Amino acid sequence: MKSFVSRRLYSATLMVVVLALLVYWTLQQKWTLGHSSFGTGYVLLATLFFLALYNIRKKLPVLPWASSSDWLQAHVYVALGTAVLFGLHVDWRLPTGFLESTIAVLYGATFVSGIVGLIWTRTIPAKLARVSEEVIYERIPMLRSQLCERAQEAVLEAVRSSGATTLGEFYSERLHPYFESSRRIGYFVRPNSRLRRRLLAELTEMNRYLSPDERETCEILFALVRRRDDLDFHAAMQWRLKMWLFLHLGLTYPLLAVASVHGLVAHLFDGGVL
Ligand code: HEM
Repeated sequence: MKSFVSRRLYSATLMVVVLALLVYWTLQQKWTLGHSSFGTGYVLLATLFFLALYNIRKKLPVLPWASSSDWLQAHVYVALGTAVLFGLHVDWRLPTGFLESTIAVLYGATFVSGIVGLIWTRTIPAKLARVSEEVIYERIPMLRSQLCERAQEAVLEAVRSSGATTLGEFYSERLHPYFESSRRIGYFVRPNSRLRRRLLAELTEMNRYLSPDERETCEILFALVRRRDDLDFHAAMQWRLKMWLFLHLGLTYPLLAVASVHGLVAHLFDGGVL
């Protein structure tokens, strides 16, 4: 725990010192009527390339790089530091030209997606652990269809043995669509347990009209409805984790490309030569 805290303290202190030196350097340039744009631009571009290198690091874990957690920590602190660097580079003004505005939007979106992702990667695993045991994302469709089959078999068996149809009718009207279809996109954006609670309440309400055989099956259905809802929650949360990384990475490469073109154009306009 101590080394965990002191590692963070060390990274944060290092980041503050480097940023303070950069701020001092840009102020000094201003006082001597010099230009800091190229300097801050190069440092910012190099920093963005360093952040993007994390993708290569993740793809090639066999190379003798630093540990994955060290990389992530360096990534997060350096990325946070780029906010100040970006501010210094644009002199704390909103960019106006097309290229500059495009970079600002791409940078802003990458930065914000990074913050959101950091929060999600820290909070979602704990939420999932509270719901049920670990579930592999790719296995969720198969587990869902198994649940659907088990529910169907249990209801058919109850109808056969009791001769009553109350549970069977309820199943085909309310539960079969629930077990068979996927959740709407709104659920993936904001997962909630409304449908689960409604179905469980309806099952509870119906319980008193059931025969003893049907009641036993009703207990099984209670468990299956809960299990299906847990699987949907896993699917939505794990989809969120996949999507944010896809977006974060998807924004990174256009950002690098546009920032590099911007550097090139700046040189061309500065003296006509590179
Ligand atoms: C602004 C420029 C940024 C760039 C160019 C950038 C780029 C990248 C790249 C290329 C990856 C690797 C993705 C992969 O291969 O899976 C990554 C991962 C990540 N970034 Fe950033 N990032 C930036 C900002 C941020 C910020 C501001 C934060 C949070 C404070 C952040 C947090 C993360 C996290 C948590 C991961 C992945 C963790 C994991 O592997 O699960 N990034 N970023």
